[in-house]
Amino acid sequence: MSRTIWWQDDHPALLDQTLLPFEEVVLHCRTTEELAEAITSLRVRGAPAIGVAAAFGVAHSAFLAAETSEDVATFQEVVRTACMRLAATRPTAVNLFWALERMRAKLRVLEATAPAAAAPALLAEARAISEEDAAACRRIGELGAALIEDGMRVLTHCNAGALATAGIGTATAPIFVAHELGRPIHVYVDETRPLLQGARLTAWEMDRAGVPFTLIADNMAASLMRRGKIDAVFVGADRIAANGDVANKIGTFGVALAAQAHGVPFYVAAPTSTIDLATPTGDTIPIEERKPEEVRSAHGHRLVPDHFPVYNPAFDVTPATYVTAIITERGIVRAPYGEALAGLCLGNRQKGSV
Ligand code: MRU
Repeated sequence: MSRTIWWQDDHPALLDQTLLPFEEVVLHCRTTEELAEAITSLRVRGAPAIGVAAAFGVAHSAFLAAETSEDVATFQEVVRTACMRLAATRPTAVNLFWALERMRAKLRVLEATAPAAAAPALLAEARAISEEDAAACRRIGELGAALIEDGMRVLTHCNAGALATAGIGTATAPIFVAHELGRPIHVYVDETRPLLQGARLTAWEMDRAGVPFTLIADNMAASLMRRGKIDAVFVGADRIAANGDVANKIGTFGVALAAQAHGVPFYVAAPTSTIDLATPTGDTIPIEERKPEEVRSAHGHRLVPDHFPVYNPAFDVTPATYVTAIITERGIVRAPYGEALAGLCLGNRQKGSV
């Protein structure tokens, strides 16, 4: 698996995903602003990965603050400001806010600690967030692989792979585990316009892992289902509301509609850090709108004149009624989701029943 975001010597480093699949360039973030820009411009993206990136960014701001002042109040203020800056990067993935809240909670515990000791403690918290995410991905893979039968043809949308997490991905985790176990599987990868995370990132991951795959344009998925060529859909999530509504990459809802129309199971795989019990339904999940240039072009190539009006929401919401099951590291849950998701967040391990 490729590394997505990590701590290198004294700063966060990440694989610049905007350049994939043709160039593998590591970006070294030496300031909070550089990291914030990397998140906003999708150099690092995917809900769990941006949470991990932000956590490392907070730790980095702490080391920078500790270098310039021994004053505890100044240190706390600088780190809190970094948290605010990083929180302003992208609005939809709740993992970002979840990770920042963990870092803030750690900062509160350290309110009487000298900066020189507090900074390493914040780095330890960021590392823990990263390691826990990797472990969650592995567990999602183990539980989700039970849903995959030999010879299955599965469809995925966007990239909920290793590049979107600190581990083996969420939607891709059951696929990678099934493949590791030698079970035959074929993956249909939606290209995922406008930014082509499926074509550029998921297909790249499948290729590297040796998983048989076929890349399709987004408008081909429903037709493949109608022709009986898709046995299951696996997608990730940016935020799961308390009632089980799922925000994920724009286009996910269309895939869910087509899946339900054709009796194809639609699985959502996500760590419990993606569940937002404070958001009752998908209706109040903030949906990021991105620049029109992303639709007017494709991977840097201009497609239409600059004056063509564009609508560019980055995510959509799939109502819970379309979701066959939600696969988390603490178990697989099915409708009705309300109580089941609340139970997962309280740490009640579900049986992992399928
Ligand atoms: O805009 P992106 O590329 O950050 O969107 C990513 C997705 O929608 C993923 O499916 C989601 O974050 C789940 S990642 C495990």
